[in-house]
Amino acid sequence: MRPDQIDVAPDGRDPAAIEAAIERMVHRFYDGWRDDDLLAPILARLDDLDGHLQIIVDFWSRQLLGTDRYAGRPFPPHARLPIEPEHFERWMTLFAAAARAELPADFATAALTKAGNMATAFRAGLFPLRGLDGRPMRLPPG
Ligand code: HEM
Repeated sequence: MRPDQIDVAPDGRDPAAIEAAIERMVHRFYDGWRDDDLLAPILARLDDLDGHLQIIVDFWSRQLLGTDRYAGRPFPPHARLPIEPEHFERWMTLFAAAARAELPADFATAALTKAGNMATAFRAGLFPLRGLDGRPMRLPPG
């Protein structure tokens, strides 16, 4: 089992400083999200925003530092949300700004690569078809 805290970050830097940067990044990202006309309604659906923020901090701690605090499955909650193709571009823009502002450059690059790969996988899972207009679309209900 992997640890919930680690002694040495992957590059030898102080993991506590990276953990603090991850926490700042997540809060900055969600502050931008709350103010964004396109994405704010999706966030407003959450009953427990503080609990969600902690899950996202734990997720990035796992991805960037190798801790084991996140053990969930990220895709299923997204399938239940009214996410449209255009939401992804905005999500990535806000996330990239927060990651670059708060994380050391190499960690920001790693986070953006991970988020980009997951966005590609999520889009493929959410929108497996294309409509007659060429636009990605969900499977018809039922
Ligand atoms: C259009 C883009 C996206 C939107 C609008 C979105 C929105 C959300 C929302 C509202 C939740 C909470 C769901 C719930 O608890 O019911 C969530 C969970 C989550 N999202 Fe996203 N998301 C997007 C893309 C991504 C991407 C690209 C990643 C990759 C880093 C990601 C990672 C996660 C993770 C790890 C969770 C926590 C899942 C869990 O509870 O275990 N999301 N997302």
